[in-house]
Amino acid sequence: ASLAALDTSVPGPNRTQDRSAPAAPAATDAFANTPDTDPALPANRAWGKEILARIPGSELGNDLVAASRVSGLDQLNGIVDAALEAGRAWGAMGGAGRAAVLHRAGEVLESRRAELLEVMAAETGKTLDQGDPEVSEAIDFAHYYAERAKDLETVDGATFVPAKLTVVTPPWNFPVAIPAGSTLAALAAGSAVVIKPATQARRSGSVMVQALWDAGVPREVLALVQLEERELGRALISHPAVNRVILTGGYETAELFRSFRTDLPLLAETSGKNAIIVTPSADLDLAAKDVVQSAFGHAGQKCSAASLVVMVGSVAKSARFHNQLLDAARSMFVGYPETATSQMGPIIEPAAGKLRKALTTLDDGESWALEPRQLDATGRLWSPGVRTGVADGSEFHLTEYFGPVLGVMAAETLEDAIAMVNKIDYGLTSGLHSLDPAEIGLWLDTVQAGNLYVNRGITGAIVQRQPFGGWKKSAVGAGTKAGGPNYLVGLGNWVPAPSTA
Ligand code: SER
Repeated sequence: ASLAALDTSVPGPNRTQDRSAPAAPAATDAFANTPDTDPALPANRAWGKEILARIPGSELGNDLVAASRVSGLDQLNGIVDAALEAGRAWGAMGGAGRAAVLHRAGEVLESRRAELLEVMAAETGKTLDQGDPEVSEAIDFAHYYAERAKDLETVDGATFVPAKLTVVTPPWNFPVAIPAGSTLAALAAGSAVVIKPATQARRSGSVMVQALWDAGVPREVLALVQLEERELGRALISHPAVNRVILTGGYETAELFRSFRTDLPLLAETSGKNAIIVTPSADLDLAAKDVVQSAFGHAGQKCSAASLVVMVGSVAKSARFHNQLLDAARSMFVGYPETATSQMGPIIEPAAGKLRKALTTLDDGESWALEPRQLDATGRLWSPGVRTGVADGSEFHLTEYFGPVLGVMAAETLEDAIAMVNKIDYGLTSGLHSLDPAEIGLWLDTVQAGNLYVNRGITGAIVQRQPFGGWKKSAVGAGTKAGGPNYLVGLGNWVPAPSTA
């Protein structure tokens, strides 16, 4: 297609992609994914440099954190009561009214892209190239759920009755997109929300919440809390007025929440231990790039990350793919986000526990193809690690680590490789690199994971195009997918219309 034939009328903010220019307002009658920042534009590189310069010493969000501290049960109960009270009008507003506020939220988030990148980098070490698509995803959630809110009222004669109160407990690894997605979904579905950002990422979560307030979500309808004591977390989760808890975090956290209240209405996206299978028919250049990005992007700290690559047949036996993979991993520039060339940032806390073990010790039959090295005294900066000889059924095969270490497994056949993947308790994302339609069909029919990606990396699901959610121990609760058409449907109650016959 010639450039002249490109359709520039497709709705979407800031199609010029120049981040130094004001964003065009988003169209409100159709959904289109928000473009990420294009670093090829000189104006965007200058824009990015200004953000990098602000990261050291950044205090964004500190004031919000201080203002949202909750130190006692009476204070917490007061916040819950106020949310319930204010939530009535929000629920009664109707989907179209809420959609208008959510579309505005998408526009405010776009206008704060630089601040969101700054606070994520300063607080969690997220590099700009990882943070930028995350902000786009948050914006996508706003516009997408706004549109879905409009369809929500009546389906097949049943009427949607919003939940009164939803508690959102997001993780630190996607400190903007995941809290935004869960919160915007609950708001779109007419519920009041109490959000408690992850402790390691509370400034980022707070800056995101401020954007939603500024877009017109009332502060009582969206209450931001930082809980000073563990006991308050338990009180919030088990509060009888809470209709739903949306958790993204470890499987153990979901179990803990359920121990607080036996009838807990929990919707949880939990752990992952994800693999990419590479068969002899694959485009190996593409596979090496996708495996490395999926394994080491954000230092492997994604529930969707690739922790295993399973090489099939001749791929495992020849040196070619191994070498490509190792060269690609070795060439990653590891550094803090304020250094523009950093491709892999620090891990969230000094490596400890099972992650430290995975970075420093091998099991029987394993060897380091690329030994991870601790790069500074903080214990947070590590070079990527690749361990080969990971055995079927071994500890590394079956354990989630959440860090920059990839295990290589070998299988004789694709069927064997799939059996290895399916042996894992979790089932979040899974990848196949193959150019053979029969192999692709077999894998799609038999592999057990929620998000399946063929000839693509396995992180970075795109709203609407790749609704996100797992099965097996990667999901607890209703099992609808975030960023997909059914997510809001499960967040309230459906009441059949009285028969008029
Ligand atoms: N949605 C993210 C991804 O796809 C993970 O939470 O990588």
